[in-house]
Amino acid sequence: MENRSQWGTRMGFLLAAIGSAVGLGNIWRFPATAFENGGGAFFVPYLFALLTAGIPLLIMEYTIGHKYRSSSPRSFAKISKGMEWIGWWQVFISFVISTYYPIIIAWSLMYAYFSFGTKWGDDPTGFFVGDYLNLADAGTFGSFVPSVLLPLIAVWILVFFFLGRGVKKGIEFANRIFIPTLFIVFFIIVIRAITLPGAVEGLNAFFEPDWSSILNGSVWVAAYGQIFFSLSIAFAIMITYSSYLPKKSDITNNAFITGFANSSFELLAGIGVFAALGFMAQQSGVSVSEVVQGGVGLAFMVFPEIISQMPGSAFFGFLFFASLFLAGLSSMISISETYIAGIQEKFSISRRSAVLIGGGLAFIVSLFYANQGGLNLLDTVDHFINNYGVALAGLFEVVAIAWFARELKNLQSHADSVSDIKLGVWWRLSLSIITPVILGCMMLLNLKNELS
Ligand code: PHE
Ligand code: NA
Repeated sequence: MENRSQWGTRMGFLLAAIGSAVGLGNIWRFPATAFENGGGAFFVPYLFALLTAGIPLLIMEYTIGHKYRSSSPRSFAKISKGMEWIGWWQVFISFVISTYYPIIIAWSLMYAYFSFGTKWGDDPTGFFVGDYLNLADAGTFGSFVPSVLLPLIAVWILVFFFLGRGVKKGIEFANRIFIPTLFIVFFIIVIRAITLPGAVEGLNAFFEPDWSSILNGSVWVAAYGQIFFSLSIAFAIMITYSSYLPKKSDITNNAFITGFANSSFELLAGIGVFAALGFMAQQSGVSVSEVVQGGVGLAFMVFPEIISQMPGSAFFGFLFFASLFLAGLSSMISISETYIAGIQEKFSISRRSAVLIGGGLAFIVSLFYANQGGLNLLDTVDHFINNYGVALAGLFEVVAIAWFARELKNLQSHADSVSDIKLGVWWRLSLSIITPVILGCMMLLNLKNELS
C-alpha cells in the first residue's frame, strides 16, 4: 500500500512510541517492583534486561513494522504465511487490555476532579471502595456504578476522536500535547515530593541495595517482566506504530531513545513515589516499608492520603491524577490502534469503520467492568494477561522470527541499511537465546506460583 498513513515528523513518532511506553507501569508498577526485588540492587538485572531484551526487541519490532509496512498480523503473514496468527494473538491481548485500561483512566479523571476539596476526606480507602466504587455488594452483576460510567464514556469519546482522525492528525497530535505536558507536570510533582519532610528516608529505603537478591532467579524474572510490560513489547503496538514511519528513518537510534526515555521516566517516578511514601511514613510514625504498595492501592488509596497531608493538596492532587490520566490515555490509544490497523487491513475497510467496529466492541465489553461484580473480573483478567498472555506473545514472536523464519539476519541488514548504529552479535544473541530462555523461565515460574 503506497498511500499508507505516515507520521508527520520523526519527533511525532517518538512521542507516540514514548507515549505508549510511559504509562501506569512506570508510575505505579516500577517503584514497588524495584523495592520488592532488591531496591538499589534491582538496577543490575533491570539494566541487563533493558539491554538484552528491551532494546533488542524494540529494534526488532521497529524493523518488522518499518520493513513490511503493515499491521502486526499482516507483517507476520508477510514473513511467513503460517505466522499470521502470532500477530492476531498480540492484537487479541491488546484488545483485552483495552477493555479494562479505560476504567483506570476514568478513575484518574474523576480523582483529578475530586482533588479540588479533597473529596475523599480523611478515609481515602473507605471513600474509594465504599463511596466511589460502592463495592458493598460486590459479586453481583448488573448494577452499574454510575460514578464510573460517565467518565468511562468520556474516555472512550476521546479515544474514538483521536483514533478516528488518523495517524498524523489524531495519534501524533494527541501525543504532541500529552507527552510534553506529562513530563512537565510530573517533574513538578517529583520536585514537590523530594522537598517534603521525610523524603530522604523514603529515598534511602528505595535505593538501599539488597545485593543477595541478585542471586535470586525470581528477581531476574521480575526485571524482565517489568521491561516487557513497560516498553509495550509483544503487544503489536510497536510494529503498528513503526509501520507508519517514512522510508528513511533511523530505527535503531529511535529504539534506543524510546528505551532510555521510558527508563528515565520510570526512575523519576520511583524517586517521586518513594519520596512521597517517606513523607507519609513520617507523618504516621511508621517505617517506610510498611506503607509501600503498588497498583490501584497506591494510586487511589495511598496517594489521596499523602495528598491530603501535604500543603497545596488540591493543586498537587490535580497534577498527580492528571499525570495518570495522560500517561494512561496515550497508552490506551496505542493499544487500540493495534486492532484498528489489524481489521482495517484484513477486511479492507476504512479507518473510520475499523474504529467504529473495533472500538465499539471494546467499548461494549468495557461496560462489563463498570459495575460492582466487574471489578473482580478485571483483577482476574489482568492477572492472566500479565502472567501468561504477554509472556507467550513474546515467546511466540522471538522463536518464530529467530528460529522458524530465521529472519534475524534479514532484519539486521534492513535496520543497518537505514541506521547509523550497526547491529552486531549482541543483538542476534539477545533475541535468539537470552530472550526466549528468560521468557520460558517466566512462564514456568508463573505456573509454579499458580499451582502452589
Ligand atoms: N507500557 C505501558 C506502561 O508502562 C503499559 C502498556 C502495556 C500500555 C501494553 C499499552 C499496552 O504502563
Ligand atoms: Na512503561
